Amino acid sequence: MENDVAKILITEEQLQERIAELGKQISKEYKGNRPLLVCILKGGILFLSDLMRYITIPHEIDFMDISSYGAGTESSGVVRILKDLDANIAGRHVLIVEDIIDTGHTLDYILRNLSTREPASLRICTLLSKPARREKDVPLEYVGFEIPNEFVIGYGLDFAEIYRNLRYIGVLKPEKYVTQD
Ligand code: IMP
Ligand code: MG
Repeated sequence: MENDVAKILITEEQLQERIAELGKQISKEYKGNRPLLVCILKGGILFLSDLMRYITIPHEIDFMDISSYGAGTESSGVVRILKDLDANIAGRHVLIVEDIIDTGHTLDYILRNLSTREPASLRICTLLSKPARREKDVPLEYVGFEIPNEFVIGYGLDFAEIYRNLRYIGVLKPEKYVTQD
């Protein structure tokens, strides 16, 4: 699997250092507010599990699973909820924890959907952002890293559902994108 990686974009050490900073910042800014961290499945799980261990204030977690219609690596903007939140978020301070903001369509939908439920606040914490690809302008309060326009894998991010377990963010070798049997 490691042989499929063309290059490492963000090392395990760089990830941990930055996520520790984000956890510290969130702990400071949400003090007294008992935030609800909403992890977007599946890509956000590694980020959530590390981030919450760097958060030093009381908080809760919940999960949402979204499917984006459209083939391959492109997000179509047509979104469907596969798993909704367990929690009622009215009056809660909600922080969405996402792996990557690419075109912005997925998060734009989630923001519009969750804001109708009248949370006290609704903000986004994304590990990665690809600004060059943005089609929908979404407000990003916490961003781990801005990355160039390359398809990345690892640390929760997949290609065809594999590579999520890599401890770093890498770029896949181009020949791996061809359909495999
Ligand atoms: P968006 O709606 O275009 O912002 O896409 C968001 C979703 O597409 C992310 O939550 C990822 O699941 C997926 N995605 C976008 N770019 C990448 C990438 O470079 N690697 C892996 N998944 C990606
Ligand atoms: Mg995702």
